[in-house]
Amino acid sequence: MLKVQGMVTSYGNIKALQGIDLHVPAGSIVSLIGANGAGKSTAMKTIVGLLKPDAGQIIFQGQEIQGLPAYKTVALGMSLVPEGRQILANMTVLENMEMGASQRRDAEIDDDLEKMFKRFPILRERRDQLGGTLSGGQQQMLAIARALMARPKLLLLDEPSMGLAPLVVADIFQVIQEINEQGTTVLLVEQNARQALKISNYAYVLETGKIVLHGQADDIAQNPRVKEAYLGGTKRK
Ligand SMILES: Nc1ncnc2c1ncn2[C@@H]1O[C@H](COP(=O)(O)OP(=O)(O)O)[C@@H](O)[C@H]1O
Ligand SMILES: [Mg+2]
Repeated sequence: MLKVQGMVTSYGNIKALQGIDLHVPAGSIVSLIGANGAGKSTAMKTIVGLLKPDAGQIIFQGQEIQGLPAYKTVALGMSLVPEGRQILANMTVLENMEMGASQRRDAEIDDDLEKMFKRFPILRERRDQLGGTLSGGQQQMLAIARALMARPKLLLLDEPSMGLAPLVVADIFQVIQEINEQGTTVLLVEQNARQALKISNYAYVLETGKIVLHGQADDIAQNPRVKEAYLGGTKRK
């Protein structure tokens, strides 16, 4: 579904991505793990067109999309749940969800809103409340619902578990798994490597702008270097 080849992205003269390759097969969950500052968000933003790569190819469903603006990649079928959720605090839950459908021209938007309210009952309860009044976990659910309102074929999630309590984190990972089981391909960025690897088919490890390791998620989870650097001895939230 998605193939990234030799992607280089810079901020001024700082090369945040130094030529990375990624492959996300249709139907899979692929995770990109790495420490703070490794370049994970830069990779996600470049893929969806929020940043322009200096070099490389981004091929989505057979079409080269590098350099296309984000509103076009959304229309093609990619949707990003950004780091820090970035919901609109002064708009209602319903208005936030409707924003996700802004590139759609079909007549099924109301049906999809209803589906989202079924999947996330708390959003139905809060539909007329301002986004800013929701808890962190509820805001993350809202950010996911907003992204799904674009009817993505590929859902990209940037650190969806960040700052959430362990029980809420478990809910979020379960929701991601369900979305995937219902047919949406997922590219997941996480610092919470342990839980990301549990639900993923394949994983890439990013260090200072380079992919240093990749493989089946089970193998990556067993890799001594990954265990040492990302899984630690202690359980993380
Ligand atoms: N807007 C920016 N301007 C300059 N440098 C940035 C900017 N955003 C990120 N960086 C730098 O790019 C590198 C990768 O950042 P980022 O992609 O946010 O990493 P991650 O998401 O893995 O924590 C870091 O060194 C970071 O300081
Ligand atoms: Mg980040």
